[in-house]
Amino acid sequence: MKAGGAVVSQRPRLSLCQAIMLGVASPYLEPVLAWYRVNARDLPWRAPGATAWAVLVSEVMLQQTPVSRVLPAYQAWIDRWPAPAALAAEPAGEAVRQWGRLGYPRRALRLHQTASIVTRRHDGQVPPSLEDLLALPGVGRYTAAAVAAFAFGRRHPVLDTNVRRVLARLAGGRQFAAAQPSRAEYRLAESLLPAEPAIAARWSVAVMELGALTCTAARPRCTGCPVAANCAWLAAGRPEAGGKRAGQRYEGTDRQCHGRLLALLRDSPGPVPAARFDAAWPDGAQRARALDGLVADGLIDPLPDGRFARPA
Ligand code: ADE
Repeated sequence: MKAGGAVVSQRPRLSLCQAIMLGVASPYLEPVLAWYRVNARDLPWRAPGATAWAVLVSEVMLQQTPVSRVLPAYQAWIDRWPAPAALAAEPAGEAVRQWGRLGYPRRALRLHQTASIVTRRHDGQVPPSLEDLLALPGVGRYTAAAVAAFAFGRRHPVLDTNVRRVLARLAGGRQFAAAQPSRAEYRLAESLLPAEPAIAARWSVAVMELGALTCTAARPRCTGCPVAANCAWLAAGRPEAGGKRAGQRYEGTDRQCHGRLLALLRDSPGPVPAARFDAAWPDGAQRARALDGLVADGLIDPLPDGRFARPA
């Protein structure tokens, strides 16, 4: 944890904000990167050979569908259309057909439009700039930042639900992030980004993985966390967001989403098709992250046929 000669962990009275203002490197960076080296899942869109198109396809699929369901669909899509021009050469209906049962099939149409635009305007190459990425159909702030960072090694904060929860706990001392990211949250994420772009991208995916596997919404495993010693939420005794303080909202939170999905499984006699989860919680991104977290926590099992079961 040395940076510019400073050892952050030996300065317990320095708050994160003070440390950042003093230009002291984040105490989280090296432990999280070391943890990621050992614990990262071997996901195909993270492989060194994954093209920018493959990264974009994966991010669009992951927007509203859990990893376990995305894996086979992603592979089939990339095998069939390894480059945008190949998809652009086919009718949009083929994209929808290939999308299968991933849910929210409008995403397939948008990917097809994106493939056409990339082929016509960008010479068949997914563009690296945030501005050009944001101009593509179905690409919002998160997806643009994720593609710029993960495919091109550019330096942008990548704030998905998992990253936001980890930062809320580590630096904010809160169990969950707010419903929508604030400017302050972007500033915090920016301040924690390493200066070197390639390392910044690795930091982002490492924090995302820490949120997906360890700092999960339902059952955080703080004993296995590489930055537990610097976690404001753990230091505060892991206060619960729904601590029944006056005015605290439950509606629409990750907690409510988890509860709803688990209740569905609990009340069903057998495995539950993904479509029933879709109907139970309309926010696809939140639902996908919740399902990923519940799988990571061992609370539900994804079956090979796309259904979900109670753990055996
Ligand atoms: N790796 C890169 N982006 C990801 C995402 N959105 N979900 C899970 N793993 C990822």
